[in-house]
Amino acid sequence: MNKRKILVTNALPYANGPIHLGHLLGYIQADIWVRFQRMQGHDCSYVCADDAHGTSIMLSAEKAGISPEDFIDKVNQEHQQDFADFHVDFDIYYSTHSEENRELSALIYERCKANGHISQREITQLYDPDKGMFLSDRFIIGQCPKCKAEDQYGDNCEVCSSTYNATDLINPRSTISGARPVKKASTHFFFTLPEFSDYLKQWTRSGTLPDPVANKLSEWLESGLQEWDISRDAPYFGFEIPGEPGKFFYVWLDAPIGYMASFKKLCESREDLDFDDYWAEDSTAELWHFIGKDIINFHALFWPAMLKTSGFRRPTCISVNGFLTVNGQKMSKSRGTFIMADTYKQFLNPEYLRYYFAAKLSSNPDDMDLNLEDFVQRVNSDLVGKVVNIASRCAGFIHKGFDGELAAELQEPELLQEAQAMAAELARLYEAREFSRAIRLIMTLADKANQYIADKAPWVLAKEDPQAEEVQQICSSGINLFRLLIIYLKPVLPKLAEQSETFLNIPSLQWHDASELLQAHKINKFKALMTRVESDKVEAMVEASKESLSTEQESVNTEATNSPLAQDPIAEEIEFPDFAKVDLRIARIIKAEYVEGADKLLKISLDLGPDKDGKQQTRTVFSGIKSAYKPEDLDGRYTVLVANLKPRKMKFGVSEGMILAAGAGEEIYLLEPHAGAQAGMRIT
Ligand code: 2FM
Ligand code: ZN
Repeated sequence: MNKRKILVTNALPYANGPIHLGHLLGYIQADIWVRFQRMQGHDCSYVCADDAHGTSIMLSAEKAGISPEDFIDKVNQEHQQDFADFHVDFDIYYSTHSEENRELSALIYERCKANGHISQREITQLYDPDKGMFLSDRFIIGQCPKCKAEDQYGDNCEVCSSTYNATDLINPRSTISGARPVKKASTHFFFTLPEFSDYLKQWTRSGTLPDPVANKLSEWLESGLQEWDISRDAPYFGFEIPGEPGKFFYVWLDAPIGYMASFKKLCESREDLDFDDYWAEDSTAELWHFIGKDIINFHALFWPAMLKTSGFRRPTCISVNGFLTVNGQKMSKSRGTFIMADTYKQFLNPEYLRYYFAAKLSSNPDDMDLNLEDFVQRVNSDLVGKVVNIASRCAGFIHKGFDGELAAELQEPELLQEAQAMAAELARLYEAREFSRAIRLIMTLADKANQYIADKAPWVLAKEDPQAEEVQQICSSGINLFRLLIIYLKPVLPKLAEQSETFLNIPSLQWHDASELLQAHKINKFKALMTRVESDKVEAMVEASKESLSTEQESVNTEATNSPLAQDPIAEEIEFPDFAKVDLRIARIIKAEYVEGADKLLKISLDLGPDKDGKQQTRTVFSGIKSAYKPEDLDGRYTVLVANLKPRKMKFGVSEGMILAAGAGEEIYLLEPHAGAQAGMRIT
């Protein structure tokens, strides 16, 4: 066999919050592929790290009252625990805030510079004079210059969807100190990406990327690349740029270099691994990056260009996964579907999730839906009902009648041969990351195995004679089919495989073991290998995911968190008469509808109760709550309307007032009165 040298990386998660199921999709995908390669006998190293730099992490640490170093160490421990619990088997889990990374980042920068690919110029940005730092768009809010909606971020408006520059916001303020930002110039350093256009046009078409991704990149390449700003001014948590005091590398410069740094650290403890062997320009080893589709440009444009000019090899393949939705919708904290790894594992076996993901993954960057009902059904029917069932049906007879000894001669050799022959096709599918097709094929084998046992009904024969040779042969064939299924599922279900190896009394299964069968071999007593998923556990997990939101909200000022829940500072004091000008009314939602072309808005018709002449008063408002509510879920609900807000002309029509909702970013909660409140009642 040709032994391959493969280095696999996963996108480095920010050291700034817990791992959730959306993250896990990409890690589980890569881990399955790595485990498959290792079962094949290849040298496959698998590295990852926390992406530890940047403004958000610096501010989170500050909020938590600890140093950024302590903050990222704590998160690193949590991340490692989560990955271990989900059986993601990295050879090393490091941090981008390491000496290895500092040195490699400096080296790559120096080489880019020596080759004339670093330019510098002054740019003007918004600056927080109180905090003494430059503000990126997400740290500035103000009034939308188009629709005048309040509290919009520095790059686009969530109400009217228009995009603009932060300097265009009306009454801008810093989300960090509340101060009004001022314009300030400073020198920045740029990587001259456009000089690599021709190279990248060719490289992105070299078979390294899935076709849909290469197509998307072609569009960007055709419309022209921009120079890439790789520097940030102090204060910034990161690496200072060599020879440029007060200037730091932008987090995205040193993040991918973190792949190299992690591997370098791994080489220190492993005699068999040599850094240059994997990273030199002429390396024959393979380099595979598994990433999410939101970070393609960093990996398929900046990264290969920087590697090229600094004399390192380029990736062999970039595998891209899509986003995860839950029950057909974006993960949502209010619905309890924004599920953290830690919450999941309190209720459910991580292997259920690994199996469900595998059963739906392909090599394409398609989004995946975790439908919780389908999840319960599929795991129970496939894993418990089909796979484990074979072993549990057969093992008892082998122990009762034959002292745990499998027959020397097996029944149904054709079926066994067919099962063994599947190894080649399944290897092809795993290699190509077509996991869903592999699982489908494995389940056809499980069906055949169950059918075989059902047809032979060893329990009928055993009733007459528990020691009949035929009983032993049937059940031994059954156990062998089970063993083959376990070999094929092992990359996906390493824990089940380990327990099965103990039950079968055999050493750790490798892929080539499919060419042999277990005959005249003693097995151990069967213990339940996997239990059914219980729907109430799934419901409890969803409930707990809702709960963890409110707990976080309560402790937001003391917890080390950079969650989107961090609250804006309370606004300036106002006099009561100012407040009294606002006419707040209870309103009943008559109807809510989607608005064609609007990303965030729902059109909402409201009943405001009768006027003094008994005529029903209605209003229509456009509200940016689409991400949190389906129109049909809103019909008939009561909420609070700012009834005397001057009608505003918006892109999709006139909004007659505003309904009240609480939230931050994606999280939106409509305000509802206690039951009994009537439409039109004034809020006093
Ligand atoms: O998008 C993210 O979560 C980044 N932390 C991924 C970094 S991947 C690599 F380049 F480091
Ligand atoms: Zn707007």
